[in-house]
Amino acid sequence: MTTPKTPQSHTPRPKRRDFIKTAAVGAGLLILPSGTFAAPGAPSNKLNIALIGADGRARAHYDALKPENVVAICDVDEEHLDFAGEVFPKAKRYVDWRECLDHPELDAVVCCTTDQTHAFIASWALDRNLHIYCEKPLAISVEEARLVRSKYLPKKDKLATQVGMQRHAKENFNRIREMIQDGAIGDLEEVSVWGNRQLPSPGYLPAAGEPPKNLHYDLWLGPAPFHPYNPGYFEKPAGVNCLSWNMYWDFGAGQIGDMGSHTMDIAWNAIDATIPTTITGVGEAFNPEVTPVRMTSTFEHPANDWRGDITVKWFQGGDMPASPIKYVDLNEIGHGVMFRGTSGYLIGDFDTRMLYPHGTKTDMTYYKPRPESELIPPLGHFQKQWLDAAKGGDLNTACNFEYSANMIEQLLLGLVAYRHGDKIEYDGAAGKVTNDATANQFLKRPYRDGWTLEG
Ligand SMILES: NC(=O)c1ccc[n+]([C@@H]2O[C@H](COP(=O)([O-])OP(=O)(O)OC[C@H]3O[C@@H](n4cnc5c(N)ncnc54)[C@H](O)[C@@H]3O)[C@@H](O)[C@H]2O)c1
Repeated sequence: MTTPKTPQSHTPRPKRRDFIKTAAVGAGLLILPSGTFAAPGAPSNKLNIALIGADGRARAHYDALKPENVVAICDVDEEHLDFAGEVFPKAKRYVDWRECLDHPELDAVVCCTTDQTHAFIASWALDRNLHIYCEKPLAISVEEARLVRSKYLPKKDKLATQVGMQRHAKENFNRIREMIQDGAIGDLEEVSVWGNRQLPSPGYLPAAGEPPKNLHYDLWLGPAPFHPYNPGYFEKPAGVNCLSWNMYWDFGAGQIGDMGSHTMDIAWNAIDATIPTTITGVGEAFNPEVTPVRMTSTFEHPANDWRGDITVKWFQGGDMPASPIKYVDLNEIGHGVMFRGTSGYLIGDFDTRMLYPHGTKTDMTYYKPRPESELIPPLGHFQKQWLDAAKGGDLNTACNFEYSANMIEQLLLGLVAYRHGDKIEYDGAAGKVTNDATANQFLKRPYRDGWTLEG
């Protein structure tokens, strides 16, 4: 059996105040920090925060943000600004996130906009040395994921980042990681992850009237190529309380960005993978306007210091891995994960897990569960982990922009292979497809003139 990994260490890192001072001196400027950076949790220790995308998912952040100084709110819908303005009455209001990010004295940003703007806002915030919590997915193209990661890594000892994969705080994530690394299924060989959500659409919606006066539709489109207004982009699909725009190529990445972000996270947390070397994506017929409902992508990952090469698979929209045993119906798990090892299977979802010993040696003597004293400690409150980090706490947040960019780059490579229609070989260091240069066109997406990732 391979050597298990211990929980991540928590090394004290420089605080933002020191970073601001250093940056200011380096630039020949005098910039005074806006927050009072005492120990995390101290009553005086408040961050000056901009909330960009102020309604919808943002409501889930209100309680965590109320104790802070929310000094700016930004939304393309003025009715949404009015709603959020009642919660944060002192905040200055913006409709354009580019102006909001230049609000004076900002320390941090919480981004809850539509997916096509995430990498833009993340990139601009990092350029301004702002801590940032960004809703999932961090990016909708491989190029975007790589750019955000490249801006984050040189600042990772100074800035707190987190992607909104808050289910990561569930204790089941830790227990699954421990079981895999302590050998519950022998040596890890393959992980299958799936999600059954289906949001089909034949294509972009037809023009349907003028946008309401409260909506800045052009700003809502943002960097995306122009598509005429249709209220359908703003209505919640039946049975799914979010993301009426997410399935269109110019606005999102379909289920890979949506439930893929959450569900792959269960596996990603356990396997210590980075960027795959080969990728396939197979599914329904390609639609140039809409991401696929049904698709399976397969990623080959090289060995690391505790395991051999592994295969990771993502199934969506009805595609499913085969059950290893006939009386376990994987279809009963809407969004789930199955690890296969040399001695068995671990099957689970966000909250549960089951072990199925299987293979030539199933006596469990190979499984060396760690003692209770070495269990991975609970993460605690997910948003608070980021807030505490921004106030000088541990910057090694669970879903920081390195962990999350790697994960979404992998998932988005599945869409690249799907669009290319063949297996791709990928150089993760260079960010290039090496076996067929024509596939590289799918690593990026088109933007409207006037919009740039470089803030
Ligand atoms: N972590 C989770 O569990 C979770 C759950 C739901 C949604 N989300 C994510 O949150 C994000 C928002 O989802 P939603 O369902 O609230 O979407 P939504 O379409 O309802 O929009 C969210 C808010 O942002 C505003 N907005 C849209 N584009 C903007 C822009 N360019 N600038 C400023 N404001 C803008 C909208 O007017 C709205 O108030 C998505 O990226 C989604 O993936 C995460």
